[in-house]
Amino acid sequence: KPLVIAIDGPSGSGKSSVSKEVARRLKLAYLDTGAMYRALTWYCLKTGVDLRDGAAVEQASKAMPLEISTTTATEYVAVDGTDVTDEIRDPLISSSVSAVATTLGARTELIRRQRELIDQHHHRMVVEGRDITTVVVPNAEVRMLLTASEEARLRRRGIQLGGTQSKEQLEAQVIQRDAKDSTVVNFSQAADGVVTLDSSDLNFEETVDTALAIVSK
Ligand code: CDP
Repeated sequence: KPLVIAIDGPSGSGKSSVSKEVARRLKLAYLDTGAMYRALTWYCLKTGVDLRDGAAVEQASKAMPLEISTTTATEYVAVDGTDVTDEIRDPLISSSVSAVATTLGARTELIRRQRELIDQHHHRMVVEGRDITTVVVPNAEVRMLLTASEEARLRRRGIQLGGTQSKEQLEAQVIQRDAKDSTVVNFSQAADGVVTLDSSDLNFEETVDTALAIVSK
C-alpha cells in the first residue's frame, strides 16, 4: 500500500530529524530534498558555474551525476563519485543554495529526479523539503507543514551549528535564506489539506509522537 508522507517546513523547524525518525519508526524510505539542492550548489561551485546564470544552472542540474541515500540508516550524498555528505552542510553552500533553488529550470529537473526516487521506492517514503506538499507530491497520503516560532528556530539552528558564529550572524543568515526561499516556494502557510504541526513548545520526542499521530489519523 502506498504511503508517502510529505513534510515541508523552514530552516530550524526540526524537519530533518523529525522526518528521519518518522521514517525509521514506520520502516519507510527517506528523502532529504534539501540535500539535492545543496549537492547541485556544490556541483555548480565546483565546476565554475555562475549561480546568476539560470540557463547554466539548469544545464548543470541535468548533467550532475548524483547519488543520494534513501534510507534512515545512512546519510550519503555523492556528486560525480565524490562523497559530499559533510561538505554540503558548509556555510558557503548554505549561503549560496537559494540562488540555485530559485532557478526554475533546475527545480524542474530536481523535482523530476525526486519523483523518480519515490517511484523506485513504490511510494513508501517520507519526503521532506519546502515544496513537497504543494508541488512534488500534492497527492501524498499524508501532508504536513512543520513550523516553529522564529525564536525556537534560531535557537535550534544555533545549537546545530555548534556556536561557531555569533547569534546575530546566524539570525541574519537564517532570515535571509528564508526570505530568498519564500520568493519561489511559499512554505509559511499550509496549503489546503496540509496539517500544520507547530513544534515551538514541543521537544523532539513530542514532535515525533505528534507527527506519528497525524499519520495514523
Ligand atoms: O538547512 P535547512 O534544513 O534549512 O535547509 P535544507 O532542507 O537543507 O535545504 C537547503 C535549501 O534548499 C533551502 O534553503 C532551499 O533554498 C532549498 N530547497 C528547496 O528550494 N526546495 C526543497 N524542496 C528543499 C530545499
